[in-house]
Amino acid sequence: MKVKLLIRSLLKKAWVCGLTTHTSLPTAFPYQRALQCRIVGELSARGYSTGSSAKGCAALVYRTHGDPAQVVQLESMNLPSIDEKSVLVKILAAPVNPSDINMIQGTYAILPDLPAVGGNEGVALVLEVGSQVKSLKPGDWVIPRDAGLGTWRAAAVLAEKDVISLPNDIPLLSAATLGVNPCTAYRMLSDFEDLKPGDSVIQNAANSGVGQAVIQIAAARGIQTINVVRDRPDLTQLTDRLKALGGSHVIKEETLRRPELKELFKICPRPKLALNGVGGKSATELLRNLQVGGTMVTYGGMSKQPVTVPVSALIFKNVKVRGFWVTQWKRQYAKDEEALHGMLEELCVMIRQGKLSAPACSEVGLTDFHKALDSAMQPFTSVKQVLIM
Ligand SMILES: NC(=O)c1ccc[n+]([C@@H]2O[C@H](COP(=O)([O-])OP(=O)(O)OC[C@H]3O[C@@H](n4cnc5c(N)ncnc54)[C@H](OP(=O)(O)O)[C@@H]3O)[C@@H](O)[C@H]2O)c1
Repeated sequence: MKVKLLIRSLLKKAWVCGLTTHTSLPTAFPYQRALQCRIVGELSARGYSTGSSAKGCAALVYRTHGDPAQVVQLESMNLPSIDEKSVLVKILAAPVNPSDINMIQGTYAILPDLPAVGGNEGVALVLEVGSQVKSLKPGDWVIPRDAGLGTWRAAAVLAEKDVISLPNDIPLLSAATLGVNPCTAYRMLSDFEDLKPGDSVIQNAANSGVGQAVIQIAAARGIQTINVVRDRPDLTQLTDRLKALGGSHVIKEETLRRPELKELFKICPRPKLALNGVGGKSATELLRNLQVGGTMVTYGGMSKQPVTVPVSALIFKNVKVRGFWVTQWKRQYAKDEEALHGMLEELCVMIRQGKLSAPACSEVGLTDFHKALDSAMQPFTSVKQVLIM
C-alpha cells in the first residue's frame, strides 16, 4: 500500500513527452541500448511521465564528444514499455564523476554510441517490475551493475540483470555514490597487499571521492593512512576534515620531497601500499616512499601525466607496479553474485555504523546541470556534484 502511494505521488510530478526509436549501442552498453531513442525536443521541466501509450523522461544527452558544457543538453526521451524481465525505475540521485566527464570528452576507455545519456553511477527507485522479475519489487533501491547505464535521467526501463539492489535504509547520497568509489577503495585495500592493523598506506588525491573512502575503510581496519593533497588556501580546513574521517596523516605534495618526511616515518611505518590517482611526479614520489617489496596501484590519472618509475625503486626495493579498474573487476566477477553483493553489504554495514560516509556533496537539480558539470571540472573543490532528479 505504502509503495502504491509512493508511486502515485511520484507520478503526480510527471509530464509527457514523445520520441521515436533509432540507433544501436555496442554490447558494452546494454542499458543504453535498452533505451534507444531519438531525442525530439528540449525540456522545459524535469521529470518523467507514464501513461497507457507513452512514457517519457528528462535526460542529459550528448550527441557528439567534446566539452561537457557545450555538448550536454537536457532533452526528452521515450521510455520503452517494460517487458517480463525488466523494471521501470525512477532515478533518484546520480553523481558527476571524472569518468563521466572523460566519457563525454571521448577520452575514456569505453564509449557508448551517440547520442548517449551521461552518467555511470546513481541510485534508482523501482516503480514497476515485469512479470518474471524475481529479485526486485516496487520500492526497492537499485544501482548499476556495470558502467554505461546513462544515469543522468529521471527514469529508465532496465533489465533486471543490469542492476543490483541496495538496502534503502542508508542515506541517499551514500547510495548514489557507493557503487564506484567506495568499491574501488575497498578492492584496492583488500586485493594487493596483506594489510594488518598498524600497517600504513600512502595515497595522493586523498580528498577525492576514492581518497575519502580509502581513509574511512582503512581506519575501520586499523590501517594508518598518509594522505597527500595539493596545497590550497583552505589547507587547514581540508586537513581537519580528512583527519575527522579517520586520516592518520595529511601532507602536501611538496612535503613528499622534503626531509621532514623522514620525521613522519619515525612514528609511522613506511607504507606497504601506495594508491595513485594522479600520475606524474606525485606517483613517482609515492613509489620512492614505499617499503621494500611494496605495491603501488594506479587507479586514476588526474594530472594526465605518465607514471615514471625510478629504476632504484625497482632494483633496490623490488616494488610492484599495478593497476586497478573497478569496471573490469565487476565484469570479472559478474557471475559471482556473492562477490559484489558481499562487498556492498559490508560497505552498507559500515555506513550504518557511521564508519563510512558519502563524500562531501553538492546536490544540484537536473535542470541546473550546467552548474554541476562546471563545478565538477574545477580544481580544489573537494565536493562531489550530485544530480537530484
Ligand atoms: N580505476 C577505477 O576503477 C576508478 C574508480 C573510481 C575512480 N577512478 C578515478 O579516480 C580519480 C578520482 O576519482 P573521484 O571520483 O574520486 O574524483 P573526485 O572526487 O572528483 O576528485 C578529484 C580529485 O582529483 C584531484 N585532481 C584534479 N586535478 C588534478 C591534477 N591536475 N593534479 C592532481 N590532482 C588533481 C583533486 O584534487 P584537488 O582538490 O587538489 O583539485 C581531487 O582530489 C579519477 O581519475 C577517476 O577516474 C578510477
